[in-house]
Amino acid sequence: MPRNEKIGILGSGFIGRSWAMLFASVGYDVCLYDAKQEQVSAALKDIKQQLSNLESTGLLRGKLSADDQFKCIRGVKSLKECVEGAKFVQESVFEDLELKKKVWKEVDQIVGSDTVLGSSTSCILPSKISAELVHKANFIVSHPVNPPYYVPAVELVPAPWTSKDVVISTHALMKEIGQAPITFNKEIVGFGVNRIQYAILNECNSLVRSGVLRAEDVDTIMRDGLGHRYAFMGPLETALLNADGMKDYLRRYASSMETVTETFEARPSWDIKDCSELIAQLDQMVPLDQLESRRVWRDGRLAALAKLKKETSEQDRLSKK
Ligand SMILES: NC(=O)c1ccc[n+]([C@@H]2O[C@H](COP(=O)([O-])OP(=O)(O)OC[C@H]3O[C@@H](n4cnc5c(N)ncnc54)[C@H](O)[C@@H]3O)[C@@H](O)[C@H]2O)c1
Repeated sequence: MPRNEKIGILGSGFIGRSWAMLFASVGYDVCLYDAKQEQVSAALKDIKQQLSNLESTGLLRGKLSADDQFKCIRGVKSLKECVEGAKFVQESVFEDLELKKKVWKEVDQIVGSDTVLGSSTSCILPSKISAELVHKANFIVSHPVNPPYYVPAVELVPAPWTSKDVVISTHALMKEIGQAPITFNKEIVGFGVNRIQYAILNECNSLVRSGVLRAEDVDTIMRDGLGHRYAFMGPLETALLNADGMKDYLRRYASSMETVTETFEARPSWDIKDCSELIAQLDQMVPLDQLESRRVWRDGRLAALAKLKKETSEQDRLSKK
């Protein structure tokens, strides 16, 4: 039986179903709603399968069995049933400002002042979505990284009018479900994940377009080079450990960094026709009919990494004692 605290999940695509699993992992009463009823049925089927696979491979989160976690999630037929009386609502509908505003306007008319309103939006400013809501002080962006079940970071981005209590309680809720929340002091377009991700993608695009590297080699740089370090520490700690602290790093490398940075293309085009070579190379690297099996492979590797990181952080904790 789920505990007597309800979480409403709006949208049951890639992100919505992962959120449902995360909240169910600690026993919340999770309601899943989608504008397309068949999406909810497909999501429930997929969640059941995923939970059972996770259990059999020892990677299930939380203390409840897969069966008990699945029992915490129920599909509902209306938005009202999904959000009414919820402690927290996580919206994961398409990335479209007008659609998100419409959905939140509807939610706003149903919920009371105790419900926290979270959006998975990847890039849209929380102030743009929530400006006209009655309960706008309760609105916050809680942006996960895909797939959220295996990648724990969640960006918490308040609008200028979001209450401090909402920021604090959302942070606590994310910790409770095993995620790693990052709280922003103020909103900025693209938040942190996509600002950093797009800076990386811009340079990858330029290196391929200019013919310096093939797409496959660009990915090797990250997968077998930078990515090894970034799985355990951020780029800033990586830098300071490569010298005797950050001041020394800058003494040694600031001028190289500035010289290289001067050669960056200011704004590489992402127009499809300008990226035809990049697309062709990537379609060859991962053929379009293999995307689904490749996603399953990715989730398995990420789950194994999550397990390794859990073990190593436990070792770190013990060695600090
Ligand atoms: N996929 C990613 O990598 C990723 C990562 C982080 C955040 N996000 C964000 O999460 C959100 C959802 O992305 P996704 O990848 O899950 O998309 P998706 O296309 O897989 O799922 C979106 C779901 O929303 C449903 N929907 C549409 N209108 C609705 C409505 N009015 N009411 C209820 N449900 C509705 C759709 O039927 C669909 O099932 C977006 O804002 C996206 O930017 C995506």
